[in-house]
Amino acid sequence: MNQTSVEPAGFVDTVAVPTFTLASGATIPAIGLGTFGSDRFSMEEIAAAAALALRTGYRLVDCASVYANEDLIGPMLATTMDEEGIARDELFVISKVWNDAHAPADAVASVKKSLADLRLDYLDALFIHWPFPNTHERFAAPDARNPSSRPYIHAEFMAMYRALEDLVDSGLIRHLGVSNVTIPKLRLILRDARIAPALHEMELHPAFQQGELYQFSKDRGMVVIGYSPMGSPRRPERDRFEGDVSDMEHPVVVRIAAELGVHPAEVCLKWAAQRGHVAIPFSVKPAQILSNLRCVTERPLTPAMLNALRGVESNSRLIKGQVFLWEGSDAWLDLWDVDGTIPGWTGYGSTAAE
Ligand SMILES: NC(=O)c1ccc[n+]([C@@H]2O[C@H](COP(=O)([O-])OP(=O)(O)OC[C@H]3O[C@@H](n4cnc5c(N)ncnc54)[C@H](OP(=O)(O)O)[C@@H]3O)[C@@H](O)[C@H]2O)c1
Repeated sequence: MNQTSVEPAGFVDTVAVPTFTLASGATIPAIGLGTFGSDRFSMEEIAAAAALALRTGYRLVDCASVYANEDLIGPMLATTMDEEGIARDELFVISKVWNDAHAPADAVASVKKSLADLRLDYLDALFIHWPFPNTHERFAAPDARNPSSRPYIHAEFMAMYRALEDLVDSGLIRHLGVSNVTIPKLRLILRDARIAPALHEMELHPAFQQGELYQFSKDRGMVVIGYSPMGSPRRPERDRFEGDVSDMEHPVVVRIAAELGVHPAEVCLKWAAQRGHVAIPFSVKPAQILSNLRCVTERPLTPAMLNALRGVESNSRLIKGQVFLWEGSDAWLDLWDVDGTIPGWTGYGSTAAE
C-alpha cells in the first residue's frame, strides 16, 4: 500500500468526533490511530495508514520511537497536511521515549530525534513508554530476560522526568504523559513532578478495565488513553498466554454488536468513548480505519449495554511485560505492584523504590 494508491473508504467530519479536555485546556480526539504494527506489518504500510487516517478524519496519531517508523510517518503526515489543508494545531501527535533512553541526556536526544523524524517543531504529548529502563530483542521469546534489567528506581525515573520537564519549558513538548505505571508509582511521580503528567496511557479494553487505576488517574486530572482497545488480536507471539480473554469474541460484546448491527470492534470503541477515555485502535485497512472513527459519532451504546459491558471485566491483562523482568524477580505481577508496593531487586522480597 502506498499513499497514492489507497483511497479512504469514506470521511468522518472531524467536528462530529468527541473530544476530551486536558488540564491545560487543550483538546484531544476520542479516537486516534495506533502505529505499533505488532511486528506483523511493514513500516511503509503503517506510514501509509497514518496518511489514510488523516484523510479519513483522524486528528490524533499515537507514535513511539520504538515503533521504528516515525521517520516514514513524518513525511506522510507533512504531505497529507499540505494536500488536505490540515493546520498543525488541528493535529495531536504523541511520541514516546523508549526504555533504552532513560538517562536524562538520552531522553532529550530521543525527543529531538522523534521531532526530526516526525517533521514537527513540537509534540502534543510525550510519554515515557514504560517506567523501567529495560529492553528486549525484537521477536523476543516470552521467557527472554535481559541481564541488565532493573526494577523501578524512582530517583532515576525522576532524573529523566526533570529533563523532559525542561523540554516542556522550552516548547518542544506540550504535555507529558506516563504509560504502564501503577498507583504506587503514580503517587511518587505526582509528589515529585514540577509539571504533573497530563495523560496516562494504559491497556484498556472491556475484559481489562483497570477500574481503580483509571479512577485514580482521572481524579488527579489526567486524560486516560486506552491502548489495545479491541484486545489486540494481532499482538506479538510473546504476548499470547493461555487464559487471555478475546474481547471481540466475548458473548456479551458479540450480543451487543448483533443488537446494533455492527462489528464487535465498534462496541469496544464506543465503550471507550462513552466511558470517558481516548482509544487508539491500530489498523492498516481502509474500511476498519473508517469504521473505527465513525462508530463514536453515531448510535451510542444504551445504559443497559454499558451496564452489561461492566460484567465483561475479567482482569485479562494481555501486555504483561514479562520480557522486562529483571533477574531476581520471576513473576510479571512484580511489574504491576499488585500488592500495593513497588518491589525491589528481589521482587516482592524487598521494597527499594525510594
Ligand atoms: N503504551 C504502550 O505500552 C502501548 C502498548 C501497546 C499498544 N500501544 C498502542 O496502542 C495501539 C493499538 O494497540 P494494538 O494494536 O495492540 O491493539 P488493537 O488496536 O486492539 O488491535 C489491532 C487489531 O485489531 C483488528 N481491528 C482493528 N480494527 C478492526 C475492526 N474495525 N474490525 C475488526 N478488527 C479490527 C486488526 O486486526 P487485523 O489486522 O487482523 O484485521 C488490528 O490489527 C498500538 O498501535 C500502539 O499505538 C501502546
